[in-house]
Amino acid sequence: MASSIFFSPAANAVTVAIPTPTPTPTPRLVLVRANNASASATAATPTPRLVLVRANNASASASGPTLTLEECEAAAVAGNFPAPPPHSKPPGPKGTPLIEPLDLTRRPRRNRKSPTLRSAFQETTLSPANFVLPLFIHEGEEDAPIGAMPGCFRLGWRHGLIDEVYKARDVGVNSFVLFPKIPDALKSPTGDEAYNDNGLVPRTIRLLKDKFPDIVIYTDVALDPYSSDGHDGIVREDGVIMNDETVHQLCKQAVSQARAGADVVSPSDMMDGRVGALRAALDAEGFHDVSIMSYTAKYASAFYGPFREALDSNPRFGDKKTYQMNPANYREALIEAQADEAEGADILLVKPGLPYTDVIRLLRDNSALPIAAYQVSGEYSMIKAAGVLKMIDEERVMMESLMCIRRAGADIILSYFARQAAGILCGAMSN
Ligand code: PBG
Repeated sequence: MASSIFFSPAANAVTVAIPTPTPTPTPRLVLVRANNASASATAATPTPRLVLVRANNASASASGPTLTLEECEAAAVAGNFPAPPPHSKPPGPKGTPLIEPLDLTRRPRRNRKSPTLRSAFQETTLSPANFVLPLFIHEGEEDAPIGAMPGCFRLGWRHGLIDEVYKARDVGVNSFVLFPKIPDALKSPTGDEAYNDNGLVPRTIRLLKDKFPDIVIYTDVALDPYSSDGHDGIVREDGVIMNDETVHQLCKQAVSQARAGADVVSPSDMMDGRVGALRAALDAEGFHDVSIMSYTAKYASAFYGPFREALDSNPRFGDKKTYQMNPANYREALIEAQADEAEGADILLVKPGLPYTDVIRLLRDNSALPIAAYQVSGEYSMIKAAGVLKMIDEERVMMESLMCIRRAGADIILSYFARQAAGILCGAMSN
């Protein structure tokens, strides 16, 4: 049999069939690369791992006798053809009513009757290439567990972070978004640390780009980690979040991130006009190739609770309702989407994810741009907590929730589950 290339479920996996010299019923083995990293990276880059995967997951002995192909052929040549499968089905349990079959033209269950048919007709797929892994970083050397987000850590930017990126790449996750925890001493009402070229985020970007040149780094553009008020913008004496003055700061922040090597800057602040201003500021500095992922529809959501604990970024007073959207609103997302698109956004993001799948679908149907969804901290923690309490099957609920976000229309998903889910997707291919 000639060697052939298969389309693999993981978009970034290279799958090559090993030609078998003689036809045998042994399941075919294929080579899958867990990581599409370019081999030219520096020493810290893991060599792409090769995993042996069976191309056929059906066990050969599941039904019928296990004849070798030669035996089958010999039997056929001798005129011994197998009998057709029985037409009559075994009876139901005692008490099953005896009835005439319903006269149905459509029986949708026909298309679900076997694993092969079900996977042939599967409309949505999930791949490590769809994931962006959010990473919390701090200046410390140690990784500090985040109480409200089991399994997540504030990572030391020099050690734990590198280790985490290394492991994520091993399962095909090559995109990351950085969230810094800034010491109180560096916070101010105008958040000026946000554009310090030697601040935690720019330093971390430079380090990561040096170690892993092929990864894609997304950054968060907003003042809250740097604001002594815990707000995404500058707070006026009367409590108003100042729009245009904040946008001015955000432009300096984004340019500083781009200078450090960021690939995609992601304004999550919800100020008006920031996408256009960021585009102009980036272009003016020659960063025409740096993309903007706009948090188009970011809702004032209680699902952000664990994140704010992780970064100690709760607003010191008030809430974020004058800039983040009202969870009751749907049409308003279109207004934001149209503005972001007109101002030059490259990717539109909806946040939170699962509770807002209708909004994801709305943007998907009204824009040709890629759509991102953020499965936020509260969504993550709910699944983790219920899993720990054995109320749900954590892994299955995790995979289903990610799939549902994709089905709703998201191209990429920012998720704290990215590494765990990608691990399952890679493992799943070896069954
Ligand atoms: C703020 C920001 C928040 C998140 C990402 N960026 C929180 C907020 O708006 O207060 C939340 C992410 C999560 O909950 O996982 N710029």
